[in-house]
Amino acid sequence: MSSTTRARVDARLGGDGYAIDTTLFGGMGDVWLLSRQDPPKDPRFEARVAVKTFHIDISEKLVVNELTNWLGLCHPRITPLLAIDYLNWHLAAVMPRMDGSLYEVITKKSFEPTVAMGIVRDILFALEFALGELGIYHLDIKPQNILWLNSPTNVKVADWGISRLASARATTAGMGNASATFTSAAGTPGYMGPERFDPEWPITAASDLYSLGLVASELVVGAFVTDLIRKHGFNEHGLTALNSAAAKVANQIGGSLGDFIAQCTALDPRQRPASFTDALRLLADR
Ligand SMILES: Nc1ncnc2c1ncn2[C@@H]1O[C@H](COP(=O)(O)OP(=O)(O)O)[C@@H](O)[C@H]1O
Ligand SMILES: [Mg+2]
Repeated sequence: MSSTTRARVDARLGGDGYAIDTTLFGGMGDVWLLSRQDPPKDPRFEARVAVKTFHIDISEKLVVNELTNWLGLCHPRITPLLAIDYLNWHLAAVMPRMDGSLYEVITKKSFEPTVAMGIVRDILFALEFALGELGIYHLDIKPQNILWLNSPTNVKVADWGISRLASARATTAGMGNASATFTSAAGTPGYMGPERFDPEWPITAASDLYSLGLVASELVVGAFVTDLIRKHGFNEHGLTALNSAAAKVANQIGGSLGDFIAQCTALDPRQRPASFTDALRLLADR
């Protein structure tokens, strides 16, 4: 839908009056960016909100998992869930409207390493909180799921759609034969470490750290993960290409962010930092 379309939304969000400014299509659902002139009647809402509805083929179990985990995540570095409501008769997650995701930013420009390091630390604070508070890992860390408000350096982690309890296994139950192909684990091609395809491998912080290592590289040189996967395929070749691209960035920038990228993108999860706290220590000023 073009941004010039201003249809009225038949929503329960505190009564009518929201207009659709944009619709964004995601993997699990659509995100509607809404605004209204006058203040909303419901004090939980703002004049500008973003509302996520879920595709009909997404299982109820996944939707409940996302909403339940998200409700417990109140942290300055996490996009909050303001309410669960209905939008055009579809179950909807209402959140404050952000200005965009880091993906659009890094397809146009890159960040100075010191600025990138601040962003990475903030993402780590969010991940550390989610694990400490709810015992969950995010498992879909990528630039599209890191939103920003007012400035691209003011980030908030979003999309807990496939977040999982620390006690769960690496692949989604019932998703089939995991080791034979690179297509059976839940997550985003390119951002998942190789262990995510091994059903025997337990989920640990190492999986989110692998993704974050790639995001950190992209912050300093611009987006490359999706392009490399498109070029080489989502297979061993793609993984090797990504790995050498990240190693190159790590060498090029050096310092603690370079060490962070090199350690986090190690193909063997045992060689990555052991926890989010250890990763934060790595990024502490030396
Ligand atoms: N609160 C928000 N404000 C602005 N844009 C958002 C917001 N939430 C999500 N988006 C945009 O919508 C996209 C899809 O949302 P996301 O929750 O990641 O859904 P999916 O699970 O389908 O990937 C995001 O990548 C981002 O670009
Ligand atoms: Mg997403």
